[in-house]
Amino acid sequence: VHTEIVSDSITGSKAVAKEIADLIREKDAKGEKCVLGLATGSSPVKVYEELIRMHKEEELSFKNVITFNLDEYYPMKKEDIQSYWHFMHENLFNHVDIQPDNINIPDGTLAMDEIIDFGKNYEAKIEACGGLDLQILGIGRTGHIGFNEPGSTETSRTRIITLDHITRVDAAKDFFGIDNVPRKAITMGVGTILHAKRIILMAWGHGKAPIIKETVEGRISTTVPATYLQQHSNTTFVVDQEASSELT
Ligand code: F6R
Repeated sequence: VHTEIVSDSITGSKAVAKEIADLIREKDAKGEKCVLGLATGSSPVKVYEELIRMHKEEELSFKNVITFNLDEYYPMKKEDIQSYWHFMHENLFNHVDIQPDNINIPDGTLAMDEIIDFGKNYEAKIEACGGLDLQILGIGRTGHIGFNEPGSTETSRTRIITLDHITRVDAAKDFFGIDNVPRKAITMGVGTILHAKRIILMAWGHGKAPIIKETVEGRISTTVPATYLQQHSNTTFVVDQEASSELT
């Protein structure tokens, strides 16, 4: 794992957006699709803003881009303002020329007994597209990537999980109180993420400093699922000064 400390989140986000745009264009030139794994939350917002700017001002096209989002709350309707479906459309998809059929987001409206098959199909679809070329990640204070909370193993795949209390506390502001935060989510597994050819994890601000230290310097274990990224050969952590402040 390579850690890149940037002066601030704007600089870091622009660099990440540039790498994504370069990959899209490189694949385009070869007549290939670009398969992106995407995250929601505050960490990637400025990356998406920059990609939208490049689409509008620099002819960056998403026509040949296929996306797979990491996760969705469960249960969750697409049209709810807290849904990750809504987040992605609002923050990226509605502003670029991606084909709606190429957008994949876990479905928060499934019945419980449909989720195992959904997970298998999600994995199969990623495989059928040739695997994830680039996976974007944020990190939760619990050490989750996607919603792989502590206890998630390195071979875990797309499935339903129970959200950690800390994760629900952090989400409470978006839901106008913790009681409204769903208790579960559907998430790609740690194993799904580790299969990506390239991974970029972003972390901004003081709040992320302790978990960044544990993730980069700590022992690899299910207690901090993000530590499994240490075993991935093509992962970069892009962190600002504040998030890097506890690194030795
Ligand atoms: C979101 C996701 C989560 C977030 C993490 C950090 O799709 O997979 O792992 O990346 O909870 O959230 P923010 O960026 O809001 O601090």
